[in-house]
Amino acid sequence: MSKAAVFGSFVVDLMARSPRLPVPGETVKGSVFKMGPGGKGFNQGVAAHKAGADVTMISKVGRDSFGEVAFNTMRELQMDTSHMFVTDDTETGCALILVDEKTSQNEIIIVPGACSTITEEEVKNIEAVLKEAEYVLLQLEVNQEANELVAELACKHGCKVIVNTAPYAPVTDEFLSKAYMVTPNEVEAEEITGVPVKDLESAKKAAAYFYDRGVKEVLITLGSRGVFVSSGGREEIIPCFKVEAVDTTGAGDAFNGGLLAALSEGRDIWEAARFASGLAALSVQKMGTTLSMPVREEIDRFLEEHKNS
Ligand code: ATP
Ligand code: RIB
Repeated sequence: MSKAAVFGSFVVDLMARSPRLPVPGETVKGSVFKMGPGGKGFNQGVAAHKAGADVTMISKVGRDSFGEVAFNTMRELQMDTSHMFVTDDTETGCALILVDEKTSQNEIIIVPGACSTITEEEVKNIEAVLKEAEYVLLQLEVNQEANELVAELACKHGCKVIVNTAPYAPVTDEFLSKAYMVTPNEVEAEEITGVPVKDLESAKKAAAYFYDRGVKEVLITLGSRGVFVSSGGREEIIPCFKVEAVDTTGAGDAFNGGLLAALSEGRDIWEAARFASGLAALSVQKMGTTLSMPVREEIDRFLEEHKNS
């Protein structure tokens, strides 16, 4: 198994479920409140770690009680905390997540806080991690200058950059040219490429946009319709596993963490996408984000039970 790294956000998720989402100006009584670790980067790092990857989590928090949530979670999971930067200048970020308990639809406001202040010096401090890793997984929730520096350093050392383009933010062609693989969801794929991704044909057109910019492999997640995978001239939609979804917040993170874990085990992209879909299918059956990520035994059992689907 090769080493992997996740460079990205940590925030504390404040999640409330209610019978429906409020319209502007309205107050709705909720049924459940949960507070826990989150942020796309952290969710993906934890998903990969629990799936068995040898992954280094890199993020930044403030010196405050929300920051402690990251450290406590990592200690409980026996993850290495030595590449978590801490600042006195900015508070740890948070995300306000509203979930409709009937449809499982969500609305999120994220205030990234400390993890959007990652400095050039801090990125230089992780050069050794990138040098050793075969893959580094990025998202767009931290300050983009830091992502650009990480991508540059990773390329210098032959570490393959996977960019999960979430949440949508404009990215330069220069940045995309450093990505070995991109994993937008269908909405982000349309926002970046201008191609509405509705079916296999339109997904192929969106993939072509990324190929034109130097990306080598393209996966577009399609929610409950599965994932479009484009690699080595083969382009297919792999359907997702049929499960009863309770909360799909973080499904994309579960998928990306699973993908990273499987790729760093040496699986090919098709097997990795199936493994990632299984991990995501397990996570949507539980409430929450980081805390809904399954352990390796659960994933293996689930895939074995669903080997004919
Ligand atoms: P989020 O922003 O909520 O984290 P996303 O939009 O980035 O999610 P999706 O495309 O919704 O990501 O989902 C990622 C993957 O998760 C899908 O490709 C699929 O494999 C799995 N998935 C999503 N929703 C479901 C579902 N209802 N049932 C089973 N698997 C699902
Ligand atoms: O993808 C889900 C994540 O997005 C949540 O954990 C929340 O922190 C937001 O950043």
